Amino acid sequence: MRRRCSRNWTGTWTSSRSAAAAAPFAEAALRHFETLGAKPARYRILEPSADLRQRQQDRLAANLPPAVFARVEWLNGPPEAQWRGVLFANEVLDALPTPRFVMRGGEVYEEHVALSPEGALIRVDQPADALLRAAVRHVEHDMGAPLPEGYRSELLPQLPYWIQAVGGLLHDGAMLFVDYGYPRHEYYLPERNDGTLVCHHRHTAHGDPFHLPGLQDITAFVDFTALAEAGVNAGFDLAGYCAQASFLINNGLPARLAAIEEIGDEVERHRRHNEVKRLTLPGEMGERFQVMGFQRGVDIRPAFARGDLSRRL
Ligand SMILES: C[S@@+](CC[C@H](N)C(=O)[O-])C[C@H]1O[C@@H](n2cnc3c(N)ncnc32)[C@H](O)[C@@H]1O
Repeated sequence: MRRRCSRNWTGTWTSSRSAAAAAPFAEAALRHFETLGAKPARYRILEPSADLRQRQQDRLAANLPPAVFARVEWLNGPPEAQWRGVLFANEVLDALPTPRFVMRGGEVYEEHVALSPEGALIRVDQPADALLRAAVRHVEHDMGAPLPEGYRSELLPQLPYWIQAVGGLLHDGAMLFVDYGYPRHEYYLPERNDGTLVCHHRHTAHGDPFHLPGLQDITAFVDFTALAEAGVNAGFDLAGYCAQASFLINNGLPARLAAIEEIGDEVERHRRHNEVKRLTLPGEMGERFQVMGFQRGVDIRPAFARGDLSRRL
């Protein structure tokens, strides 16, 4: 497998492997379904990275009861036949390869990577292709003003095609996306003029995509307005949009907290409290992480009953 960290020649920042991405969510969800007596008929994982897929298989085989592991399947690509169920994507949109654009003299340019005469990786801006240009113009139109000179940011022009590919054949079901991001008017604030690209390596966040090529994660925040447009254009109704803290409160967190209060072991009780704080406090993951749901033939709107932020899209 060729690992990439910097951009490829079409000008797209791509994420490389993530040590943290070997299916911790899948493991926790499948264990919890088991305790609820609500085993899914199948749990399918769409994982394009062969390396990550192998690590997911190793982890789930080692940690799940064999009867539960037997329900897990790995997909080579999006489903090709109609299906019913729930599509869940936790921190996937931020990992999609993202172009970066910059405004120059009212025109849209795209960041590419080239080699300097000394052999170092350098950023080079070139006129954007029609797809990226149209997507930037759409953002400007929606914002009601042109982006300022020198403004640099990210945008996923392929998002509508990706949503159509992964969710187009989902009938009688829901799609849930969890990621860090903002509604468009907050994403493209004039003062956020160098975008949202963040690199992670061993729990350290920084802004240099040329550091340790192939070993670090490169991510960008999600424009949730763009996601709402893509989901609705793929034939879904928007079920709701809220911060992660609200979503957890809407979906059983108070009962879980009450159960934590009953734990006799003080150390364990304290550990669980800290987990809840990390997931819900505004300075931690409670606000920065947001949840958007779509539905077709089902009704999941109660999951977004309190704290709905759809009006900000
Ligand atoms: C940060 S990890 C997500 C971790 C995982 N969902 C969890 O909650 O434990 C990002 C994942 O998105 C996957 N990914 C990247 N591009 C993708 C694409 N085009 N389609 C599907 N998955 C993709 C990566 O291979 C990786 O498994």
